[in-house]
Amino acid sequence: MSEHVPDDHSAAEWDERYRSADRLWTADVNPALVAEASDLPAGTALDVGSGEGADARWLADRGWQVTAVDISQVAIDRARETDTREAITWLRADLSVDDVPGRDFGLVSLQYFPIPRSDDATVQRLLDAVADDGHLLVVSHEAEGVRAQGRNPDDYFQPADVAALLGDGWTVITDDTRERGVAAGGGAHTHDVVLHALRTRS
Ligand SMILES: C[S@@+](CC[C@H](N)C(=O)[O-])C[C@H]1O[C@@H](n2cnc3c(N)ncnc32)[C@H](O)[C@@H]1O
Repeated sequence: MSEHVPDDHSAAEWDERYRSADRLWTADVNPALVAEASDLPAGTALDVGSGEGADARWLADRGWQVTAVDISQVAIDRARETDTREAITWLRADLSVDDVPGRDFGLVSLQYFPIPRSDDATVQRLLDAVADDGHLLVVSHEAEGVRAQGRNPDDYFQPADVAALLGDGWTVITDDTRERGVAAGGGAHTHDVVLHALRTRS
């Protein structure tokens, strides 16, 4: 992975980061997605900040109809090149300002998706996109690994911050920190913080 850490969250910064390497992330699905979603019935899924597309491909392999969204056109083009199945819609959008493309998703998955700590509105739009009886999965790097890469985890929404916004219509299924199994991000990220919640009513 690139050592360059973007100073802001713009599309240009992310494009530059993706252009800096043939591949930024592993081609393997994220382990927390496998752990939390393997037993879910396939439906529609929103992969938020889909990067190079490994999670979207894994979901499509299991029968999900996936909307994969990323702010980086470079990432979206790269992901689309590796998988042109109709089961995956690859979309470039900035989810901090653009509408969420669709609603009533059976799964909304955020894997290491950076949301600035002040941006409650983006979190709320993503929560609103989960269907009744749908699942929300939020996975972040554990704070120590984030600090090791020169970032302050307090600058970003953490799974616990999202959990605090859920309210009555949600049941938390998983709320834990676990070994990632395979380190991510140049070895700094060895643990995942995982929130998995079920929307029980609107
Ligand atoms: C740390 S990467 C994770 C990529 C992928 N989920 C994975 O686990 O390999 C975060 C991704 O979120 C995307 N991203 C950042 N801000 C975004 C925004 N406002 N809207 C959409 N995507 C965004 C970035 O381009 C990047 O691909």
